[in-house]
Amino acid sequence: MEPVGVGVVVGGSYESILIRENKDRRIEIGDLLVAKENDRKILLKVSSLRFGEGEENHSLPINYAEIPTVATARPVIVMSPGGIVPAKIIPRLGSEVVYASRDDLEPLTGSDGKGIYLGKLRSGSKVIDLDLFLNGEDLFTQHVLVAATTGRGKSNLLKTMIWSALSRGGYGILVLDSHDEYYGRSGKGVKDHESWKQGNMYFSTNPPPGASSLVFNLSTIEPDHFFGIMSLTDAQKQAMIVYNREYGDKWLEKIVIGQDQELVDSRTARVLRRKFRLSLGIYARNGRIVSETNAFSQTAGSSTIKSIVSALESGKVVILDTSRIGDEAELLIGSIVATEVFSIYRDRKGDGTLDGKAPVSILIEEAPRVLSEEKIEEESNIFASIAREGRKFRVGLIAVTQIVSLIPKSILTNLNTKIILGNEMSLERKVLLESCSNDLSFEDTAVASLDRGEAIVSSILTKFGIPIYTPLFGSSGGS
Ligand SMILES: Nc1ncnc2c1ncn2[C@@H]1O[C@H](COP(=O)(O)OP(=O)(O)OP(=O)(O)O)[C@@H](O)[C@H]1O
Ligand SMILES: [Mg+2]
Repeated sequence: MEPVGVGVVVGGSYESILIRENKDRRIEIGDLLVAKENDRKILLKVSSLRFGEGEENHSLPINYAEIPTVATARPVIVMSPGGIVPAKIIPRLGSEVVYASRDDLEPLTGSDGKGIYLGKLRSGSKVIDLDLFLNGEDLFTQHVLVAATTGRGKSNLLKTMIWSALSRGGYGILVLDSHDEYYGRSGKGVKDHESWKQGNMYFSTNPPPGASSLVFNLSTIEPDHFFGIMSLTDAQKQAMIVYNREYGDKWLEKIVIGQDQELVDSRTARVLRRKFRLSLGIYARNGRIVSETNAFSQTAGSSTIKSIVSALESGKVVILDTSRIGDEAELLIGSIVATEVFSIYRDRKGDGTLDGKAPVSILIEEAPRVLSEEKIEEESNIFASIAREGRKFRVGLIAVTQIVSLIPKSILTNLNTKIILGNEMSLERKVLLESCSNDLSFEDTAVASLDRGEAIVSSILTKFGIPIYTPLFGSSGGS
């Protein structure tokens, strides 16, 4: 295919190269353009558009239709036979600029056949027939942030990534699925992957045939699991610790059932009972514990944590359908499993046996529930610890959010890959773009105008903010 000339470089500066649009062309925000010089190609990304007034001296009445559009673009990388480097030069004045072709962009896809598929490359709203892959180990252990306002395609993209992880094999992914949307209980989902039945697991309080019961034995829950997750006063925490010391793994049952002689101030015990009832749906009746959601039990579920962790360690996907158990119970369960994985992996690192294990990544929706400034300022929790130091132990987070601004900068900078989908809130865009590894300061308009399924992937694993489009899950083969 002949390269299509779209415009000519007419001025500007590094931050904003001005490109006059050719008459029969229509440059779009987000378009990838190329200025070629011998064997060197400068890749430019269009950040803004305006009318090109003031170039000629109009003595005659102005014919507005004759005034060309001028695009503002930013050089992002320079590609040459020697490799790809960040752009430190600008094209020559008068250079012709063409649409980036499939051949131009091919070197950016990382298609070594092993990576995790995120979507197709995109230039403006034009989808290019090239798949973007990122190295799974790096991607998952260096944390991922998926940010967008509602309905922009976050879950769709994640489903696509999980599908790809299943194809590659060897990636432990724990999905806290508060909408029960990944497995595909009614419709296509990750369960339809040809390798799903090879050890990947789905837990639900309402399990379909072949799935497992989402039930945790109360004796597997520790006071630590609550800390930084549920809001508790010092007296309440202290009370939990006292019970734990006295009754070991029966501590929670003992609090919930209530003793003739309370170990702690009876008011504190009463408040805790009420909290556990409201947030976890557990309470005592006739000396036995009732779990409203069936997610907790005195008798069943003693091996649940073990099976989840051992599936993750062997590189399997584990989906926990938390859609019927409530917000706080979901976070508690997430905390229980995350704590266990983290501690096992930390020990493995200690005794030098970590390499044989699969990297593990934990997907959590509405991540500010555990990562917000407010939350972790009060008291840190396992999710914040993973964000800060999980990488060393090959444990990562996939944090999904609509509101990035709630997450403190110190955490955001640790989430090394940012997948940015559409966002119409300018404050959110600002915080997001400022926290990226690549310079995305000029991309504000581009992010504001992203359509459903369109994203920008900014990462220490990419040379610049790579525009992609993730097709609707199930609409094509997937990778
Ligand atoms: N690339 C796409 N093409 C067409 N439809 C899409 C695409 N991506 C997502 N959708 C559809 O758009 C809707 C919203 O997508 P999705 O659930 O992935 O968004 P979300 O960002 O996760 O939203 P929420 O914030 O509500 O969780 C869904 O019905 C989904 O099927
Ligand atoms: Mg979603």
